[in-house]
Amino acid sequence: MSNHKTLIAYVTKSGVTEENATIISNVLQENYGFEVDLVNLKTSPKPDLTQYENIIIGSGVRMGMWYGKAKKFLKNKFKNKNIAIFLSSGTAGDPETYGEAITKYINNKLAKFPHLKPIASEAFGGRYSGRFGDADYTDPEKVKEWAINLGKKLC
Ligand SMILES: Cc1cc2nc3c(=O)[nH]c(=O)nc-3n(C[C@H](O)[C@H](O)[C@H](O)COP(=O)(O)O)c2cc1C
Repeated sequence: MSNHKTLIAYVTKSGVTEENATIISNVLQENYGFEVDLVNLKTSPKPDLTQYENIIIGSGVRMGMWYGKAKKFLKNKFKNKNIAIFLSSGTAGDPETYGEAITKYINNKLAKFPHLKPIASEAFGGRYSGRFGDADYTDPEKVKEWAINLGKKLC
């Protein structure tokens, strides 16, 4: 599979995971020539996985939980696929609580899905406004850097 066909499957509510999915897609296409499909799991919850060499899964976090459709997607077998995971979380954007976000939303989650052995995982800062106040912890440069390193691993 010379074109490194890649699926980026994501769920977003406030838009950040979609923005980051787009950044990752652009890097993999422009820097590495990968063929990438971006799929919103809310509108297409069951993409055909057979054609993909790499599957990158993105979700936002609310109330301490991954979004439901992304959680459900993790139950796929993903046999012989390279897997990578990225999250958008308010606490991941603050250096003081970043470690906590990794433990809670990535390490503890992956412990429940032992069949998943991602070659990369990361939690990026999110954005929110409303009763919790207003905050924007997004960092597109960090996402780009992660995608560049991910591309190297997938080549
Ligand atoms: C109602 C609500 C609950 C949230 N709960 C959490 C939380 O428990 N932990 C956290 O790290 N971030 C939390 N956040 C911040 C989100 O993770 C942030 O908005 C992120 O951008 C969500 O991803 P999305 O933009 O792709 O939907 C919350 C945001 C909202 C609006």
